Parts: sequence; C-alpha cells; structure tokens
Amino acid sequence: MRVQINRTILQLVQGDITREEVDAIVNAANSTLLGGGGVDGAIHRAAGPQLLAETRTLGGCATGDAKISRGYRLKARHVIHAVGPVYNPRDPDVPVLLVSAYRRSLEVALANSVTSIAFPAISTGVYGYPVREAAPLALGAILDFCAQHEPITLVRYVLFDAPALAQHEKALRAVAAERRLIIVEG
Ligand code: APR
Repeated sequence: MRVQINRTILQLVQGDITREEVDAIVNAANSTLLGGGGVDGAIHRAAGPQLLAETRTLGGCATGDAKISRGYRLKARHVIHAVGPVYNPRDPDVPVLLVSAYRRSLEVALANSVTSIAFPAISTGVYGYPVREAAPLALGAILDFCAQHEPITLVRYVLFDAPALAQHEKALRAVAAERRLIIVEG
C-alpha cells in the first residue's frame, strides 16, 4: 500500500529492514546506542562490528532524538539511530517523544542528503507501544514532515509481521483520508 504527498512516496511493506536498499535505514535504538535486541540487534548483526565501533563514539542519544552512522556491510549507506519512548499511558510526553523520533530521523536524513529512507515501527516491540496507538502518530508525523520537505522521495515503512502490516494499513487509510490523500493499493 502507498500514498503520495508532494514528491514523496510513503510505502508500507512487510519484511526485514536490514535488507532494504535505500540511502538510510532507521534503527529503533536505545539511548546508549550500544546495540540491543529486536531491530537494533538485527541491524548490528547485519552491519557488522564496525557499526558498534562507530556508535560508541556518538555519545549516546536522547529519547526522541536521532543520530546518523555509516551502514558498513548493510546495503543502506547510513543507519539513522532513533530512540523512541518506553510506552507509559500515564505520561503525556510519550506520544510527543514518539513523533519527535520520526521527525528528527527525517531531519537528520535531510541534513545528510538522504532521499530514500526505511523505518521500522519504533517503540512497538520491547518498548511496549501498542501498534494501534503508535501507527497513526508515526504515519502522521512522516506525512506532515514530507508535506513540507521536498527532497525526501521515498519513505518505506517496513513491518516485521502481517498483523503489524494490517494495523498500519488501517491507520494509513485514516491518516491519509484526514489529509485528503489518495491511497494506492499494492
Ligand atoms: N525488520 C523490521 N522490523 C523489525 C525487525 C526487522 N529485522 N526486527 C524487529 N522488528 C520490529 C518489531 O517487530 C517491532 O515492531 O521492530 C519494531 C520495534 O521493536 P524493537 O526492535 O523491540 O524496538 P523498540 O520497541 O523501539 O525497543 C527498543 O529494544 O532492541 C532493543 O536496543 C533496543 O533498547 C532498545 C529497545
């Protein structure tokens, strides 16, 4: 499923983000940037040990922020390490920090001449963010940013399993309708 806003195509796919052939893939990292499980572990395994050697030099990353590194053995030239919030339904900052993680990733992409980028569903794994709540925030943040910033031509949102893909497709229909954007199936 995909939608176009200005010159940007936002595409939802199911797959393994480490295989994406885009300028940059986004990592759902933690604030140490020293690796972990989930997509963080998968990206570090696929990129090889030089990735950790570089992320050790980045001085960590605040929640809601993002930092860039090289991609090493990955097909992607760069990895943008974004730190999402740990889900807490009683903390009003949590949705703000999730949106910020997406927006900062796109700002860092633009600052490094990245025009094609792949995102995982940040915070929806170990960090416990319900996909039903995270998906509209993530997709809305991406569409709103790309509505104002032309150079990004492709955002591929990579879901690891079919239920997550289905929930994001439902969210994209709603978010696109709010912005009077046309969904293209397939
Ligand atoms: N490709 C795409 N998506 C993936 C992949 C992959 N190879 N592996 C996992 N995912 C999905 C998960 O299914 C989930 O939907 O990425 C989403 C984010 O889950 P996590 O990787 O657990 O990330 P997050 O919830 O943001 O928690 C971050 O987990 O791995 C640690 O070091 C990381 O401490 C940090 C925390």
